[in-house]
Amino acid sequence: MTTTPDTGSNAGSIVVLVSGSGTNLQALIDATADPAYGVRIAAVGADRDDIEALSRARRAQIPTFVCRVADFATRAEWDFALTSQVAAYSPSLVVLAGFMKLTGEAFLGQFGGRTVNTHPALLPSFPGMRAPEEALDYGVKVTGCTLFVVDSGVDTGPVVAQSAVGVDDDDTVQTLHERIKTAERRMLVDYVGRMVREGFTVTERKVTIP
Ligand code: GAR
Repeated sequence: MTTTPDTGSNAGSIVVLVSGSGTNLQALIDATADPAYGVRIAAVGADRDDIEALSRARRAQIPTFVCRVADFATRAEWDFALTSQVAAYSPSLVVLAGFMKLTGEAFLGQFGGRTVNTHPALLPSFPGMRAPEEALDYGVKVTGCTLFVVDSGVDTGPVVAQSAVGVDDDDTVQTLHERIKTAERRMLVDYVGRMVREGFTVTERKVTIP
């Protein structure tokens, strides 16, 4: 599948989905201040209220929306509503930046192949919600972060980029995760910019940015 740069009226626009502190979102917000970056954040969506990520978006005057699983009778209805909310902004790319929910069939039907997620481990090692803790418990000496194109599995999609981070003997989950997040923000800003500006190709598991 080839995703070419969007040249329509919403060219360069992305929607970012978040669940937490939003430091990755902030890195994207900061990058978009430079017009040469070529990316506009059309909206920020969350699966919960009262998170710092939403405050960051509001401070930057970016439209926000909240779509909570608990407000729907089924997970499929939530997924459909999330899809509609994102679709309202016609993004070229959807970026999951610390979004702690799995998107479903409706979402992937519309945004599959143009949704990326950032994960705090070198996939396929340590998928799931507790990657830095599991890497530390396992005793690995090197971990890192992965940007990947979302598919229907849990952190299984084609890899766009990875960045390695060494594990120190005295690391705690917090110190390790913070160091991973520093690498993650750099990787996210760099590759989201390139994917939006230049387009990208996914051939089986291989992602290429021209
Ligand atoms: C990031 O490290 C991201 O990779 C992770 O949550 C953090 C969000 O930080 N996501 C996952 O673990 C998803 N499985 P942030 O809210 O400060 O951007």
